[in-house]
Amino acid sequence: MSQIKAVRGTRDLLPPETELWNHIEATARRVFARYAFGEIRTPIFEDTQLFARGVGEETDIVSKEMYTWEDRARAQSEKAQMLTLRPENTAGVVRAYIEHKLGDTGLLQKLYYIGPQFRRERPQKGRYRQFFQIGAEVIGPTSAGSESPLRDAEILEMLGTLLGELGITGWMLELNSVGSAADRPRYVQALREALVDVAATLCADCQRRAVTNPLRVLDCKVPEDQGKINELPKIADFLDEDSRAHFAMVCAALDACDVPYTINPRLVRGLDYYTRTTFEFTHGGLGAQNALLGGGRYDGLSEAIGGPKAPGIGFAMGADRLVLTLQAQAAEGGANNAAILVDVYIAPLGGAQQAQSLVLARELRRAGLRVELGDGTFRLKKSFEMGNKLARKIVLFGEEEAASGIVTIKDFETGEQTKVPRGELADFLSTKHSRFPVARE
Ligand code: HAM
Repeated sequence: MSQIKAVRGTRDLLPPETELWNHIEATARRVFARYAFGEIRTPIFEDTQLFARGVGEETDIVSKEMYTWEDRARAQSEKAQMLTLRPENTAGVVRAYIEHKLGDTGLLQKLYYIGPQFRRERPQKGRYRQFFQIGAEVIGPTSAGSESPLRDAEILEMLGTLLGELGITGWMLELNSVGSAADRPRYVQALREALVDVAATLCADCQRRAVTNPLRVLDCKVPEDQGKINELPKIADFLDEDSRAHFAMVCAALDACDVPYTINPRLVRGLDYYTRTTFEFTHGGLGAQNALLGGGRYDGLSEAIGGPKAPGIGFAMGADRLVLTLQAQAAEGGANNAAILVDVYIAPLGGAQQAQSLVLARELRRAGLRVELGDGTFRLKKSFEMGNKLARKIVLFGEEEAASGIVTIKDFETGEQTKVPRGELADFLSTKHSRFPVARE
């Protein structure tokens, strides 16, 4: 019978890699809490109209990449409905903000989420059809300060801190302002006009985009096109005074807290809801899909999906790409890639010690250690082989150890063998020797 495999663009995440995922998610939750964010969990599928109106019909995401289907009516009282697996979560969060009237609190809503998103893109390194985002949004009535450039700067400063705590080095923050909803059409018109003269000399994709969506020409990566694209009009020259002042304040606040950034006048981003500040954190080690995260301000999104005025700003990190970056950094640093999952492996020596070795394992687990228990039927050689695949240390637990209360512990890396009283074993093992130390409560 033919074998059934995971669908193209989707993957199983297995231990020990999932340990790294958990470490990333736990670090993000910890940092978000310090910046007063609370978690929101929205449904994985939504009404297709939410993305059509929120993200924009003309975007690649909505026009080509969504998993959409007709949900048939099952009863007379129901209507068939077009549904879509969420390709991103900002539209869903803003929908929830409107639906639950969160603006009525008069407070800023600071919401974060962690979960899968779905886009039918061409899979490659760092690009999947089911991928995971860790994102956050700040939304609220203008009276709560939601339009303030301080919010933009706070988010960017938080991201620098979070990447630092994750241990990701060598990132670059690219920053731009795409102006207000009024600035954009003037810019697009200027771009369209400028493209009339040069489009024919650009790549085939650019020629098509020059007509369908001129802003996307700025995303072109074809080396021969870059010189000409850099000569096109820049959005910075089309910003109104308020947008200019807003952007200047964001930059000043970043300077004040030493967050390094580069202004990239071509950073317009692939979603239609953006206004003013847009940004991406990139990493050279990622290859073609080099964006670790992206985000920006979306002051008109709530109104676009039928809600009250509620300016907002947010971002989403590609968790898959954070994992790739940390793995690459660990490999460069010569980290041991063996499947080390636990702190210690207990080898019961002989069937008679099985029950007592379970008691010892329980003692250590209750002390917060990660323990794997071997089997009393294994020969010593096999216990060592199995233990070496899972742990850095092995505890031998035989008749003598049970009687004397002193156990023998061996370090696989150094070969060192130590005798430790059973009551002191947990302390002895409680040094941080996991590759991704798990914070013990
Ligand atoms: P986005 O730029 O489409 O923005 O996605 C954000 C991040 O998700 C990207 O920088 C990338 O790391 C990751 N990502 C996107 N597509 C894939 C994929 N196919 N495979 C792996 N990773 C991927 C948004 O989604 C906006 N909702 C961000 C935002 C929040 N803007 C304001 N608030």
